[in-house]
Amino acid sequence: MSEITTPPRQIGAETRVAVVGLGYVGLPLAVALAAHVEVLGYDISERRVAELQAGEDRTHEVSPERLADSTLAVTHDPARLKDADCFIVTVPTPVDEQKRPNLDALLAAARTVGEQLAPGALVVFESTVWPGVTEDICRPEIEQRSGLTCGVDFHLGYSPERINPGDREHTVERIVKIVAAQDAETAQALATLYGKVTAGGVFIAKDIRTAEAAKVIENAQRDINIAFINEVAQIFHKMELSVHDVLEAANTKWNFLDFKPGLVGGHCIGVDPYYLAHRAVEIGHDPEIILAGRRINDSMGTFFADSIMAQLAGSSGSTGTPGPILVLGLSFKENVPDLRNSQVVDIVARLRVCGYRVQVHDPVADAAEAKRLYDIELKSDLADANAQYICVLGAVAHDAFRAFTTESFAALLAPGGLVADIKGLWRDVAMPAGIRRWTL
Ligand SMILES: NC(=O)c1ccc[n+]([C@@H]2O[C@H](COP(=O)([O-])OP(=O)(O)OC[C@H]3O[C@@H](n4cnc5c(N)ncnc54)[C@H](O)[C@@H]3O)[C@@H](O)[C@H]2O)c1
Repeated sequence: MSEITTPPRQIGAETRVAVVGLGYVGLPLAVALAAHVEVLGYDISERRVAELQAGEDRTHEVSPERLADSTLAVTHDPARLKDADCFIVTVPTPVDEQKRPNLDALLAAARTVGEQLAPGALVVFESTVWPGVTEDICRPEIEQRSGLTCGVDFHLGYSPERINPGDREHTVERIVKIVAAQDAETAQALATLYGKVTAGGVFIAKDIRTAEAAKVIENAQRDINIAFINEVAQIFHKMELSVHDVLEAANTKWNFLDFKPGLVGGHCIGVDPYYLAHRAVEIGHDPEIILAGRRINDSMGTFFADSIMAQLAGSSGSTGTPGPILVLGLSFKENVPDLRNSQVVDIVARLRVCGYRVQVHDPVADAAEAKRLYDIELKSDLADANAQYICVLGAVAHDAFRAFTTESFAALLAPGGLVADIKGLWRDVAMPAGIRRWTL
């Protein structure tokens, strides 16, 4: 006897969407969808829900005005998800200390969905994973909790997220959205749903595994490209060539890829390659390039700290000279508050271990979060600097730091001090007399 299938719900104005996980990805998506359909956002964090209910998004991805204007409802109570026609899961997929994928949040979210799922509903995962996680790991979890059968009672899809924190151009409303599902009807329903949100168009991938693979290589490719530039930056540094000058010249070629050297942190580029590598090893392939890229990028904090200490040798705290080092920026990326996997922390830790006093200033990051995650006290302003620093280290290209002038450095640095410009931020700024400059 053949099974009776409950068809996937049709997408229309009355569709009820539940977004599970309201972070950098989930909140902008939930707000964008709420302009077209009924959306309930659920987050496991009571604090996050309370802040959103009070109209505050501490990721700064959605403005208070937009949040206030949105019909999005948010909740901490999973039982309220039970009427959803479509669940969209946008929870974190980090790595643990050994760089192994940690699927705990994803599995917990799958169980939450399973407990609230009704026949005919769609379940879409957006979290970045390796090919197979949605169907082989999340699906059984949902089936077990719901007692429903995938493909018969509910329908599974995957739609990777491409947003880029702090990027106001490539928003969820403008970029091409990949969707994929276990059957054509569900894929079409997802194309209709996401098509309401993005003007960039929807691409229906061949299947869920293909969409998972596409996402994970997008970020692994970026990581490898940056690793290459970081490697040549180190080679050229030994040759006393500036990689910035070299790149300026090389970039005049039509097909040279424009990547910059630097720290690779955050929740995506420095993490996702480990997901692909993990699965590669499981199936008996040694992911050489992927892991070499990770090693190079993960070592950049040490490279920068050691290079700067070599410049400071003889004028430093380790030899008893009083001035501290001022590190400008702690978040993983310019103009975003996200501190997760910040590689600046590696620089600070190494300088401290080598005996330097280090202060960190970041006007964008949350001071309480810096303390909680890294035990770093952020210096709140620079008004009392009194030209005391032996080194000003530009670690993150926040707009506030880009605006620095010759006078800014004069106010911060002691005579003979060093500006360590790891981002090449101030290459066009003249340094005050007697102030040295180090850059790649
Ligand atoms: N941040 C990005 O720019 C970006 C871009 C593309 C893809 N991604 C991927 O999207 C996913 C989400 O990333 P993010 O940056 O939005 O993460 P995030 O940490 O900003 O947000 C995740 C939210 O999910 C909540 N959460 C955790 N476990 C939960 C659970 N079991 N049930 C409900 N809520 C739960 C957290 O409290 C948090 O508010 C990850 O897989 C990430 O790799 C992120």
